[in-house]
Amino acid sequence: MQIFNRKAALMDYLTSKKTTNSSIGFVPTMGALHKGHQSLMIQSVNENDITVVSIFVNPTQFNNPEDLEKYPRDLDADILKIQDISPNIILFAPTVEDIYEGKIISQSFDFDGLENKMEGKFRPGHFDGVGTIVKRLFEIVNPTKAYFGEKDFQQVQIVKKMVEKNHLPVTIVVCPIYREINNLAMSSRNERLTLQQKEEAGVIYKILNGAKAKFVNNSAKKTAEWVTNEFEKNKNFTLEYFEIADEETLSTCTRKVKNKKYRAFIAVFINNVRLIDTISLN
Ligand code: PAF
Repeated sequence: MQIFNRKAALMDYLTSKKTTNSSIGFVPTMGALHKGHQSLMIQSVNENDITVVSIFVNPTQFNNPEDLEKYPRDLDADILKIQDISPNIILFAPTVEDIYEGKIISQSFDFDGLENKMEGKFRPGHFDGVGTIVKRLFEIVNPTKAYFGEKDFQQVQIVKKMVEKNHLPVTIVVCPIYREINNLAMSSRNERLTLQQKEEAGVIYKILNGAKAKFVNNSAKKTAEWVTNEFEKNKNFTLEYFEIADEETLSTCTRKVKNKKYRAFIAVFINNVRLIDTISLN
């Protein structure tokens, strides 16, 4: 497997490999890979001539230094998981210095307000960090298609907006959420949960699914009240937010409008591990 730690070497290699018609699929990750990441890699390998996976724990998207410090990292295990999918995948695992060249700061973006809701409200600066790194990685890899998981639905909308506003020649492919047997959405952060907490965390999806059923005959407000109540019964969990929003604009649903697509979004703490999940309500 080809592994690059420097952007210049990766760019030279891709230039030498790429012919006029060849396509590059790109899967950006922060490592601690799981089956969800592997499903993105499989799709990229099936759809492109070349697949590049990046592993980079991006400091500018963490608003909480403890979260950055505790973010799980295991490059050797990740390499094996990538090789399991295909030894032809190219891995880019750069250093912070290679990416930020001594200036670990985010670019400021205008995502037409998408950045101020939910994750953006509770994690100030997060989406400027995401926009900065994804744009930089796109400039290095120059992908034809880039693959993102639906679990980070708001991130996907932000990346799409960034691509549109900067006229970047890349197609964003959104892949379904991969879940554990108890329906806990797969996430690198799950590694920080004990087995028992992982088991209990299945309740997040159960409540989301319950909210979907409630929303059929109830307002967004009533549905949110029900969700808050359910979490109050589960003392090991602290609900940070539950929100029903328009899928496209991410504006809060205050009154249901026929034919609009709605989605529920949730962020929950188990001890100090923060998990997010989402479900389509249509
Ligand atoms: O979703 C992630 O893992 C990260 O936000 C991403 C897209 C790799 C950017 O650092």
